[in-house]
Amino acid sequence: MDTQKIIKLDANDKLAARRGLFNLPEGIIYLNGNSLGPLPFSVPQHLETVTNREWGEDLISSWNRHGWIDLPQRVGEKIAPLLGAEGGQVICCDSISLNLFKLLAGSLQLRPGRTRLLTQSDNFPTDLYVAQGLQQLLGDSRCQLESVEADQLAAVLSDDVAVMLLSHVNFRDGAMHDMAALTRMVHQRGALVIWDLAHSAGVMPLQLDAWNVDFAVGCGYKFLNGGPGAPAFAYVNRRHHEKFTQPLWGWMGHKAPFEFGNDFIAAEGVNQFLTGTPSILSLAALDAALDCFVELELNQLREKSLALGECFLELMEQQPALAEFVLVSPKEASRRGSQLSFAHPQAYAICRAWADAGVIADFRSPDLLRIGFSPLIVRFAEIEQAVLALAEVVRNGTFREARYQQRLKVT
Ligand SMILES: Cc1ncc(COP(=O)(O)O)c(C=O)c1O
Repeated sequence: MDTQKIIKLDANDKLAARRGLFNLPEGIIYLNGNSLGPLPFSVPQHLETVTNREWGEDLISSWNRHGWIDLPQRVGEKIAPLLGAEGGQVICCDSISLNLFKLLAGSLQLRPGRTRLLTQSDNFPTDLYVAQGLQQLLGDSRCQLESVEADQLAAVLSDDVAVMLLSHVNFRDGAMHDMAALTRMVHQRGALVIWDLAHSAGVMPLQLDAWNVDFAVGCGYKFLNGGPGAPAFAYVNRRHHEKFTQPLWGWMGHKAPFEFGNDFIAAEGVNQFLTGTPSILSLAALDAALDCFVELELNQLREKSLALGECFLELMEQQPALAEFVLVSPKEASRRGSQLSFAHPQAYAICRAWADAGVIADFRSPDLLRIGFSPLIVRFAEIEQAVLALAEVVRNGTFREARYQQRLKVT
C-alpha cells in the first residue's frame, strides 16, 4: 500500500461527500465512531428548533403540535430500513440494557416450559448482567442462564432452550456472527433469538425480516451518531406482536394513556414496548442524525468500512515499530464488523498518547487497542496518517510517561 494507492481510494470513495454532513474538529482523526459517533451538523440546528421554538414557545402543546408523543415510533421508522425491517416493528426508547430486560423476560414467557437462556461468555457485560439479574429475580425454576464460548453455541443448543441472546459483532475483537444461519439454527430447536446490534446497525446492511429474526436491540450513540446517551431501539418481529408482552408496564405502553385508567391494557404492536415518558431532546437529536443515512446504499457502508480496515492492516505491516501489536480480530475481513482490535501490554498508555498525537481510538480492558471505522467520515489518507502517528508514538516512547499510565474513569 503506497500513498498513490491511498489517493486513488479516496478519489473513488462514493461516500466521500457524506463527511461534509459532520462537524469534525480540525487536526483530529476520529477512529472511535463505534463508541460515540461524531456530531452531524443537522443535530444542533434541529435541537435549536426543538428547544427554543417548540419547548420555549409552544410549551406543552408541542406534544401534539410538533408530534413529540409519536417520536419513539417515528424515529423507529427511520431506523427500520437500516435493519431490513418493514414498518411497525421498531421503536426507539430507553437503553439497550432496559430493552434487553423487556425482551428477555417477554421471550421466556413466549416459551413456557423452557427455562434455559443461552448466551456467549464474552458478550457485552451489560447483556450478561441483565440476564443474570433476570435469573436472580425469576429463580432457576424459570430462568437458567448459561454462557458458553462462541464455538460451543451449536453444541449446547437443545430443545429446552427458550431464548438465545447474542451480539452480532463482538465488542472486544469485532468478530461477527452469521446472523441468518444462527437464527435458523435456533428456530430449528424451537427457541427464540435476540440480537444485540450495537456494533452493526448503521455500518452494514442487515435483513432482520428476511432472516426471520425474533427480536433485536441496538444503540443510537455509536454508528447512528445520535449523541451521548442517545436512546436505544428495539425490534419486535410482527409475528410476535399478538402474544409478546414485556414486564415493564408503564403508561406510555398503555393502549390509552390519557384515559388514566387504573388497570394496564397494553398498546398494540411494538407500541407496548414503551414504559415511561420519552426523552424528547435525545430523540430529537437522533432523529436529525439519522438524516445522514438518507438515500444511502448500505452496501457502500460495508464495502468502505472493510476497505478502511484492510488499508489499516496493510499499512501497519509496513511499520516494524508496530510488530508487537497482536491482531485479535478475525483476519478475514468478511468475518468482522467495522473495527480492528490489537492486544498490546501497553495498549492503554499508547491509546492516550496516540490521542494526544491527534488520533482518537479506544482501549478495552485488559490490553486491547480498539480502532473503529466509521465509513461516513473516515478518509483513507487519515488511515495512513494514523498508522504513521501510531508508529511514532511507539518509537518515541512518550506513552511511557506517568500521565499516560493513569487510568481515567472512562476508558
Ligand atoms: C454490544 C453492546 N451492548 C450494549 C451496550 C450498552 O448498552 P446501553 O445502551 O444499555 O448502555 C454496548 C455499549 O458499548 C455494547 O457495545
